Amino acid sequence: GDRDGEASIDSPALKFELVAQCSVTRARATVLHLPHHGAETPMFMPVGTQGSVKGLSARQLLEDANVQVLLGNTYHLALRPGGDAMDALGGIHEFTQWPRGVLTDSGGFQMVSLLQFAQITEEGVHFQSPVDGTQMLLTPERSIHIQNQIGADIIMALDDVVSSTTTGPRVEEAMHRTIRWIDRCIAAHAKKHCQNLFGIVQGGLDLEMRKWCLDELSRRNLPGYAIGGLSGGEEKDKFWRVVAFCTQRLPYDKPRYCMGVGYPIDLVVCVALGVDMFDCVYPSRTARFGTALVSTGLLKIRAKSMETDPRPIDQECSCPVCAKYSRAYLHALTPKDGTVAAQLITLHNICYMTQLMRSARQAIILDKFPQFVRDFMLKQYPRRN
Ligand code: GUN
Ligand code: ZN
Repeated sequence: GDRDGEASIDSPALKFELVAQCSVTRARATVLHLPHHGAETPMFMPVGTQGSVKGLSARQLLEDANVQVLLGNTYHLALRPGGDAMDALGGIHEFTQWPRGVLTDSGGFQMVSLLQFAQITEEGVHFQSPVDGTQMLLTPERSIHIQNQIGADIIMALDDVVSSTTTGPRVEEAMHRTIRWIDRCIAAHAKKHCQNLFGIVQGGLDLEMRKWCLDELSRRNLPGYAIGGLSGGEEKDKFWRVVAFCTQRLPYDKPRYCMGVGYPIDLVVCVALGVDMFDCVYPSRTARFGTALVSTGLLKIRAKSMETDPRPIDQECSCPVCAKYSRAYLHALTPKDGTVAAQLITLHNICYMTQLMRSARQAIILDKFPQFVRDFMLKQYPRRN
């Protein structure tokens, strides 16, 4: 058959359990039974580049924010402490004392975020450290090998990423290279029994290219699929069109992960379109500049009006920061990067995202998700009389 010679894997390390399906939208509630955790989706995964979220402890992520899966980055972990060291230290769970799920990104995305320091060839991605000029060649084989050493529950294929606003032949080249690289990733993956390799759909904003890429990836029968190459400043309706197109064609009985997304409203819309998993640095990054996520939108803690405000960040939030502290107190601590106030707002923001996804999940299970979306939108964009 036409599959001859192609690598393919089953999913011994992930059982996908569909719990509920919204009767109106494509939203669904699932449990991803991973080696370290039964992850309830839809879920938000905070980014802990070096294996921890800036300013927060594993205990806070677990007990306060109820985080289910933590995201790590292969490129950063390869630099420090390194793949061999991570392996010798017993893997990321042992190293960080994080007991639940971990997902590592392949390093592919750093091509976009560190573009001036990276060159892409058919062999792989050549990085030059912006700090000391150290060279690193990340091939599909090497990315997978390092991710095997790190030991996350979910590992990502090395993809060729172009920014979503790129047009022309480079987008097509990156999409085809991503498909060529997936077979090298599959062949290199030595821990299929305990780690799940997810493929990443590329193809920019072009639906024909997305179709080509996701049909090719689907034939590899991977344990899960991600939608990549978005959240780079493209127009919202183009972004939603690509997500809707991909979720419609991806296998129904496999997890779907929208990479690098996003703002609370993006999560709500993408859940309606059938996405299960999200990650984004936004909630923690924006916290470090004094911005809190709340049900009505954004709250700038540094604003003058916070000076005497006795209310918690968000009255509807059940996080420990909102249980204890006033806006006025956080304002007095003058939140900026590295301060206690930044840590507290980071904790609140991560809690906000995990609570948002838990409420969405609950609404899907009760088949009240459309009402959940209406309530969310009305709070964010109230009717003005
Ligand atoms: N993070 C956000 N977008 C992407 C993407 O397209 N690929 C990878 N590997 N990581 C991402
Ligand atoms: Zn809170």
